[in-house]
Amino acid sequence: MKLIKEKKIRIKNENDFLNARGIVKELAEEIGLSILSQTKITTASSEILRNMLIHGNGGIIIIRIIGKETKKGLEVICEDKGKGIPDKELAFQKGFSTNKSLGLGLPGAKNLVDEFQLDSELNKGTVVKLMVWKR
Ligand SMILES: Nc1ncnc2c1ncn2[C@@H]1O[C@H](COP(=O)(O)OP(=O)(O)OP(=O)(O)O)[C@@H](O)[C@H]1O
Ligand SMILES: [Mg+2]
Repeated sequence: MKLIKEKKIRIKNENDFLNARGIVKELAEEIGLSILSQTKITTASSEILRNMLIHGNGGIIIIRIIGKETKKGLEVICEDKGKGIPDKELAFQKGFSTNKSLGLGLPGAKNLVDEFQLDSELNKGTVVKLMVWKR
């Protein structure tokens, strides 16, 4: 695996959110993803960023273009130092929300990407990693 490009952005408000979403879209385009795939990774990243702002008190996003053999991928890592997720299985159920929201963000985001990893520790924080590959 080779790191081709990396951007890091601190997320603490709506403006940072919009900026980060724009960069995900830009880099998705740069590696030649189809319009559909660009939309999928941008939408998934938006949900995770939104969660980071609402549930995690903000955090940091790292967006990377990765090279592996002959393919390229886009990796999006969102890290916060918020309250963490006590029950991950429950959090992934459609309709589960501690915020009286739709509870579709996590299950939706997971469905949209090639690889999805969530690590969370109570009162420590949450790290979500998304990955899409250009085939
Ligand atoms: N970064 C995070 N830190 C702490 N808790 C989180 C985080 N992300 C998600 N959660 C918890 O997981 C639950 C489910 O997340 P999900 O995104 O599916 O739903 P939601 O954000 O409540 O609603 P929606 O995204 O549909 O508006 C949240 O209600 C929250 O309790
Ligand atoms: Mg959400």
